[in-house]
Amino acid sequence: MTTRTTSPPPAPGATQVSAPAVPAPVVPVPAVPAPAVPAPAVPAPAVEGGPAVAGWAARQGGGAPGPAVRVREVRREFAGRAVLAGIDLDIAPGEFVALLGRSGSGKSTLLRILAGLDADATGKATVPARGAVVFQDPRLLPWTRVLDNVLLGLKGRQARAQAAVALAEVGLGGKERAWPGTLSGGEAQRAALARALVRSPGLLLLDEPFGALDALTRIRMHSLLRDLCRRHQPAVLLVTHDVDEAILLADRVAVLTDGRLSLDERVGLGGARHRSDPGFATLRTRLLAELGVTDDEASGAAGARGGEASGTTGRDAPVAAAKDAAGEP
Ligand SMILES: Nc1ncnc2c1ncn2[C@@H]1O[C@H](COP(=O)(O)OP(=O)(O)OP(=O)(O)O)[C@@H](O)[C@H]1O
Ligand SMILES: [Mg+2]
Repeated sequence: MTTRTTSPPPAPGATQVSAPAVPAPVVPVPAVPAPAVPAPAVPAPAVEGGPAVAGWAARQGGGAPGPAVRVREVRREFAGRAVLAGIDLDIAPGEFVALLGRSGSGKSTLLRILAGLDADATGKATVPARGAVVFQDPRLLPWTRVLDNVLLGLKGRQARAQAAVALAEVGLGGKERAWPGTLSGGEAQRAALARALVRSPGLLLLDEPFGALDALTRIRMHSLLRDLCRRHQPAVLLVTHDVDEAILLADRVAVLTDGRLSLDERVGLGGARHRSDPGFATLRTRLLAELGVTDDEASGAAGARGGEASGTTGRDAPVAAAKDAAGEP
């Protein structure tokens, strides 16, 4: 556990969220009217304060003191049942944390709180002023071209240029004028990533972003996400059911069990990660055990799905990701 009782002060520019001390105005829900943005990519602070597309790498190596995200004693009840029963979590600027947990354990609930989309939690959370969320469903507006989807809510020529750059960065250069309905699932999710990154988020929240993609596309998306995060250095919270995905991408992996973080572990495997690394297998086994799944069950579940990565259909069996044979390191 990384539950800390003493922590450095929050980074400058951070937004304090506390609930019911979490007043809606502090992390207001998106600037764009809800009907127009079915599930807003950005809480309002993300587009406040000057050019929304400046300084993607503002925190890069900058050593801003204190964590980017600081969560203390966060609780959330639904109908008298505590789904989150006192969460403590720090995420450093530029740090990538993956959050695992069985279906219904409260992962998305925590993510929504950090996104400023749930004002009914209690406790305290400090998040960067700029945040962006990517969900499993890319949530592109079908009646708006790809570039305008990326721009959503941002104005000005500079923003337009930056949106085009973001699209190129995710490999969608040339698709600016395409309609979302003409994109593949992977392309649509790339556009959703571009929409998030163009907002220069200090915190990038990802809720099973690759869960609906096929195994090969997911492998490419892993590589893309790794590159984007290296370049832009947001703090990241990735919710996933895929243990291998968590180990491949994250600096730390946490497990949510019975409303608390029952495990919070650094992935000490260096940059280039391979499933063949004994450290990978050891951590994988430990995480699966924490999730109440044995290696055998995990292999069986992956096999039953033709060896595909978990995270989509096997929601109650968080298991292995794509086959090594597919080429992912
Ligand atoms: N608005 C709500 N009203 C009532 N119950 C809710 C609400 N939102 C979430 N819950 C309940 O809280 C629990 C946690 O939900 P949450 O979506 O956070 O789980 P999760 O860990 O993300 O699950 P999954 O992995 O299946 O996405 C579930 O039992 C869910 O039914
Ligand atoms: Mg969820």
